[in-house]
Amino acid sequence: MDTEQIKAEIEQLRAEIERHNHLYYVLDSPEISDAEYDRMMLRLHQLEAEHPELVTADSPTQRVGAKPLSSFSTVKHPVPMLSLGNVFTEAELDDWYARLGRLTSGADFDFVCELKMDGLAVALTYQDGKLTTGATRGDGEYGEDITLNLRTIRSVPLAISKPSPSRFEVRGEAYMTRAGFEKLNLTRSREGAPLFANPRNAAAGSLRQLDPRLTAGRPLDIYIYMLGYADNSLLPPTHWERLELLKSLGFKINPNNRRAPNIEEVKEFYRFWKDRRHDLPYEADGIVVKINQIELQQRLGDVGREPRWAVAFKFPALQATTRLKEIRISVGRTGTMNPYAVLEPVQIGGVTVKQATLHNEDDIVRKDIREGDTIILQRAGDVIPQVVGPVVAKRPPDARPFSMIEKLYDPRKGLAACPECGSAIVKPAEEVMYYCPDAACPAQAEQRIEHFASRSAMDIRGIGEQLSAALMRKALVQDFADLYYLTESDLLQLEATKSKKAANILASIARSKQKPLDRLVFALGIRHVGSETAELLANRFKSLDRLMEATAEELTRIPGIGPRIAESITAFFSNEANRHIIQKLKGAGVVPEEQPAAASRQLPLEGLEFVITGKLSRFTREQAEQRIKDLGGSAKSDVTRKTNYLVTGMEPGSKVERARKLGITEINESELVNMLGFS
Ligand code: IVH
Repeated sequence: MDTEQIKAEIEQLRAEIERHNHLYYVLDSPEISDAEYDRMMLRLHQLEAEHPELVTADSPTQRVGAKPLSSFSTVKHPVPMLSLGNVFTEAELDDWYARLGRLTSGADFDFVCELKMDGLAVALTYQDGKLTTGATRGDGEYGEDITLNLRTIRSVPLAISKPSPSRFEVRGEAYMTRAGFEKLNLTRSREGAPLFANPRNAAAGSLRQLDPRLTAGRPLDIYIYMLGYADNSLLPPTHWERLELLKSLGFKINPNNRRAPNIEEVKEFYRFWKDRRHDLPYEADGIVVKINQIELQQRLGDVGREPRWAVAFKFPALQATTRLKEIRISVGRTGTMNPYAVLEPVQIGGVTVKQATLHNEDDIVRKDIREGDTIILQRAGDVIPQVVGPVVAKRPPDARPFSMIEKLYDPRKGLAACPECGSAIVKPAEEVMYYCPDAACPAQAEQRIEHFASRSAMDIRGIGEQLSAALMRKALVQDFADLYYLTESDLLQLEATKSKKAANILASIARSKQKPLDRLVFALGIRHVGSETAELLANRFKSLDRLMEATAEELTRIPGIGPRIAESITAFFSNEANRHIIQKLKGAGVVPEEQPAAASRQLPLEGLEFVITGKLSRFTREQAEQRIKDLGGSAKSDVTRKTNYLVTGMEPGSKVERARKLGITEINESELVNMLGFS
């Protein structure tokens, strides 16, 4: 065969394979057997191996990249990726519709109803028919470049075989099915790897792997839900027709999408799926209602980071009642006493719930939750269940109000003691949490090691929850500095560790010595010092020695660091045990001398205005506001057009209504916690 013939055969194979890929992964209707498909792939692999010069990036053999990345780069979205406003009731949907009526003054329009998939928003860019970039939503303006990972999703076309705009972007939701999620977690539990909390986290975690080969092994899929932008082409004038167009180009579009000529039919779509959401193979937390006419969408525009022309109509939170058997306390990494409820197992939306977090003593007392109570449990978008409150009518006569001190009271010592190490617990003024003050407390040490080794800290592969616990149990380490003194024979003492694994772990430990200072500062696990704060500290002090000598006054001069953080830092470095650990780190050659000059960064919340309404459970409103200010944002008491976020705690006030009228983004406490980078 001459080169031309080979080239022709390769191209024909590629086209055929892509066609069958599309039939199988997008349309779910294969025409050939797996064996026939495999034969074609094998032939293509052979030809490409013999003629490497003919391999192209969009060949079906090239879905999975060969090398891991060291980090993701950032991409700017040419058109911002917006989020959606929420409504929760038909009455609220009616309000949204009435507002549209006023804004559109009599224009004719209809709707497209879609399921709101619970996954990760991504944008795929095609240039001249080839996939060039795949990105996460990120903050809406900048996302992470996860092209190599998105390429591994079989329903993502690498090349478009039909005429298409020279450059265009589609947006959609990458997700994991419930079945895929269960299977993945089963495998992980066998391997002793930490489990994912829910399919969304599993999808997000899988797409944020630096090694695309890992992503390729995860059961991910995608539904495209809109055209982001397209250049130099005539596009159909409605969202529905654009979805049809994308479908014809090979993209996977949710077959459950429906057109609705009026708001009544939107409600019917909602009611239909509200009752059947659990029959879907994936999680959906509501529906998305979009105005179909693009021209009208453009006229309506956005407010804040949300379009006026679309809204998420959320499904109600799932609730169940069950008996709270016992309140137990677990000890967190920074020594926090974390109360949680041990429950009579109960099903909520297809998931068995046996435990629920109770946040802190204040929250338990305010809701008056008692051991023995029948309680109402709620699972919102998340899998993590919340205790709404007790059913007082069903309370046993002898149920006693909760008190942390009473719960942890040790009669022999005559004080309330840490359940793990027996030290007397303390509660700093102004804080809602009780702490174990002993840095050597084994429960904390174990979690500190895990944190130290975690990906965003020193990124030591192979040291997770199980291994940290095993190392502690065998007394091979007492703290994370001891990791650097481990030998192969130490590791081989652990049951699950064979010599190849041991060598990998040791290599990873050795590599971690090169991590920059901010990673190390974060890895130390200083209370209230998240990765953002660690970066500020590393940039300011440049070396660990200088940071250790810093006074509270010097620390608070850094924008972004308030008195609470400063105090925690100075307390950490004045503690003898901690100084000893750092000495050991230095002895092992871990301490980076100079922080590489980092581009000076804006504070993360610079220019953002927050209003808090209702009660927060993890901290007081003052603490939250202080932290917002520390990060460069501002906290106001009234909702205005300038407000960027309304934080709704428990029993929120009338501000919610006002915020919804103004179309202001609402976030809940856990979303706030994420933004503030609390650990
Ligand atoms: S449209 C401007 N459609 O919901 C409209 N979003 O809060 C932007 N989502 O980040 C989104 N299913 O990840 C749209 N059918 C759907 C969706 C959907 C899930 C997610 C998306 C977005 C979030 C909006």
